[in-house]
Amino acid sequence: MDLHAWAAPRRAAVDAVLLARFGDAWPPRFLAACRYPLQTGGKRIRPLLTRAAGEAVAGADAPIDALLAAGAAVELVHTYSLVHDDLPAMDDDDERRGQPTVHRAYDEATAVLVGDALLTEAFAVLAAAPASDAARVAMVAELARAAGHIGMIGGQAADIAWTGGDVDALVTVHRGKTGALIRAATLLGGIAAGASAVQLAQLTTYGEAVGLAFQLADDVLDEDEDAGDDGPPSYVRLLGVDETLRRAHELAVRAEAAARTLPSPDALVALARFTVARDH
Ligand code: IPE
Ligand code: IPE
Ligand code: MG
Repeated sequence: MDLHAWAAPRRAAVDAVLLARFGDAWPPRFLAACRYPLQTGGKRIRPLLTRAAGEAVAGADAPIDALLAAGAAVELVHTYSLVHDDLPAMDDDDERRGQPTVHRAYDEATAVLVGDALLTEAFAVLAAAPASDAARVAMVAELARAAGHIGMIGGQAADIAWTGGDVDALVTVHRGKTGALIRAATLLGGIAAGASAVQLAQLTTYGEAVGLAFQLADDVLDEDEDAGDDGPPSYVRLLGVDETLRRAHELAVRAEAAARTLPSPDALVALARFTVARDH
């Protein structure tokens, strides 16, 4: 399947939902700041996973508006996490996606508030999603679990507290830091599309494998940046490039096998492959 052709219109549809959530100007400079990190060219992997999971379960009957809402909610959490991650108190980065970070384009206090606003809006989007009450509650619960202290934020805290350790310890950090939100992106697609318990279990296997593969591939892409003894913990430093890539491919194969148990898995399979073969 042609992943680019599949993804382009779906990415545009998510972008429209994201920007529509920040259309009211109050106060105008702050609204522009909220829109800024939504317009700097993210890959939108998470909402594409949501959409692909929904299509894998429901095929042509996939509930597109619910999938767009679910994917947008996950992307809002992801975007907020990057805005805060780049702050001087965290990674102190001046650029993201080749453009000034929010605190550089605006100021630190604005960047803190932009993150707060994006995170809050994520749950407003889910609350208003065109899905059953049960599905909306399940999506809110899964996203909260994945984003919070036992998920992404726990992983960020563990990353900051890292003083060294083996590969298993690093996997535990990344299960939270990047894996939890990728799992949630996949699961929300299944929930929105009315997946059975068995199908949700397969999507969990898929999401966890892709989440870890994503991080392994990220470490290979960041190899130069992470060189040196005081760089962040990384698989490449612990395992070398070849073994890191081997494990990433093994995880992609596991993800593909889980996806192929579902009725229409083509996009999920292509996304698992893209995760480990991407160049950015
Ligand atoms: C980057 O995530 C940060 C991590 C979680 C490792 P992505 O590679 O999905 O970032 P964008 O949104 O496409 O820029
Ligand atoms: C990004 O983490 C933020 C989260 C995963 C929550 P990193 O610091 O590892 O990634 P980059 O290098 O800023 O994209
Ligand atoms: Mg960072």
